[in-house]
Amino acid sequence: MYERRGRLTKDGIRIYDLSDFAGMNRAGRLAATILDDIAEHVFVGQTTAELDRLITHWVEEAGATSATIGYKGYQHASCISVNHVVCHGIPGDKKLKDGDILNIDVTVIVDGWYGDTSRMYVAGSLTRKAERLIQVTHDALMLGIEAARPGNTFGDIGAAIQTYVEAQRMSVVRDFCGHGLGRVFHAPPNVLHYGRPGTGPTLEEGMFFTIEPMVNLGRPETKVLADDWTAVTRDKSLSAQFEHSVGITAQGCEVFTLSPAGHFHPTYG
Ligand code: MF3
Ligand code: CO
Ligand code: CO
Repeated sequence: MYERRGRLTKDGIRIYDLSDFAGMNRAGRLAATILDDIAEHVFVGQTTAELDRLITHWVEEAGATSATIGYKGYQHASCISVNHVVCHGIPGDKKLKDGDILNIDVTVIVDGWYGDTSRMYVAGSLTRKAERLIQVTHDALMLGIEAARPGNTFGDIGAAIQTYVEAQRMSVVRDFCGHGLGRVFHAPPNVLHYGRPGTGPTLEEGMFFTIEPMVNLGRPETKVLADDWTAVTRDKSLSAQFEHSVGITAQGCEVFTLSPAGHFHPTYG
């Protein structure tokens, strides 16, 4: 579809209008509400296919569209990435076991606007090391969001995330990144979760993009399995991810996918 809205920067990043924030808020809120509502369905013995069936149903019920069903041949309304799966885990019939940690990533389209967000969940009891990984990953996302303001660069966001994660002796995945979104799912720029301060395009009011760091307890390298989707850590170490969709404002940024219930942590403590 030819996109007339707003204008493009020299780096090909779309600058949306102030009036476009409302549409992004509606899409973001639906995706975040679905992540709130799925929490009580995550338990030992549950399958990720059943979680995806619920999500598919809730997207339809809301009169929205899943952005992932049919996207490059993907057939599900969510990606569910368990333990050492970094991202793009395909929902399936394997049962969750005690202590499994999982990322659930949902992208919806509401009136043509995209809302893309993911969070971590746990089946049964959370181990200390998994809890620490999840906390560090969420803190890293929030530090990235704090760096998302006009005048800063995309390198400032990546540097904030990388510096913090590596100081915790964990690693940032390089093989996947955040992305511009708005009236499309994946647009420029690539939002890297590592980098050097002051590098990359400068942030401007009206830019819409995701920040979605993946953090590993071990080494950062990943590989994609034979299904052509599932990305795992090469060293089989645990991996976590959180994702928000944000819009740059005059002062800082607005997070479109904040939990309406105020949840983010798997124990909701
Ligand atoms: N939601 C993912 C992202 O954060 C993309 C999933 S594409 C899919 O960009 F096809 F794997 F669903
Ligand atoms: Co995304
Ligand atoms: Co996503």
